[in-house]
Amino acid sequence: MRIEVLTLFPEIFSSPLEHSILGKALQKGLLNVNVRNIRDYAFDKHRQVDDRPFGGGSGMLMKPEPLAAAIDAVRGEVPGIRVILLTPQGTLFDQAKAGELASLESMALICGRYEGVDERIRKHWVDEELSIGDYVLSGGEFAALVVIDVIARLLPGVLGDKESCVEESFSDGLLEYPQYTRPRNFKGYEVPEILLSGNHEAIRKWRRREALKRTLERRPDLLDFSVLSHEEKKFIEELKSGKRVAGSN
Ligand code: ADE
Repeated sequence: MRIEVLTLFPEIFSSPLEHSILGKALQKGLLNVNVRNIRDYAFDKHRQVDDRPFGGGSGMLMKPEPLAAAIDAVRGEVPGIRVILLTPQGTLFDQAKAGELASLESMALICGRYEGVDERIRKHWVDEELSIGDYVLSGGEFAALVVIDVIARLLPGVLGDKESCVEESFSDGLLEYPQYTRPRNFKGYEVPEILLSGNHEAIRKWRRREALKRTLERRPDLLDFSVLSHEEKKFIEELKSGKRVAGSN
């Protein structure tokens, strides 16, 4: 996958793209991220990238000319690229959206700054607007890094078996079950007996139920979208009605 990033602060991207899973994905060539400075596409004397809003109001807006020139240049080099603006006004970026984007060959992430971008850029140069959550960042850079990280882990070959994403939170619409590692007794707190039993089927069942319980406790909204068996739905109803106590088996 090829990702083009358009930003006024390219330096923000250097360290996160060098380390850990993202660093390895780039090294292996499974992902190619090219960061461009929007200011390089400002062709006036002062290379101005922002200006005051028509009609007054506080703050500055990103001027349309440099953004349009940068997007046009990217589209010229990468035909068919999906152009995405990061903004708190966008549709919510979630695991399902990440799955959809992971199948693209290329995308451009435009990082907004200041009070936003000129509306004509939104309407006529951008394919899609994404938000990573209901809060306001000081710019789209950290949002773009979140999007890159989440998508990279879904690309074939990026995660080894050790880091597999098949069973992690959200992949099946549920939060993840509790996990434990050595020691068995940590400062008096024991690992649940069943995980030491060697009974793989019993462990699988226990994990699924724990995932259901945890999702019901913390994110009941997710249950509306997860695929549950008849037995699992019954289990949830029992938890809700108090017939089963969360935390017990
Ligand atoms: N830019 C500022 N806030 C943002 C958010 N929540 N998501 C995406 N881009 C942003």
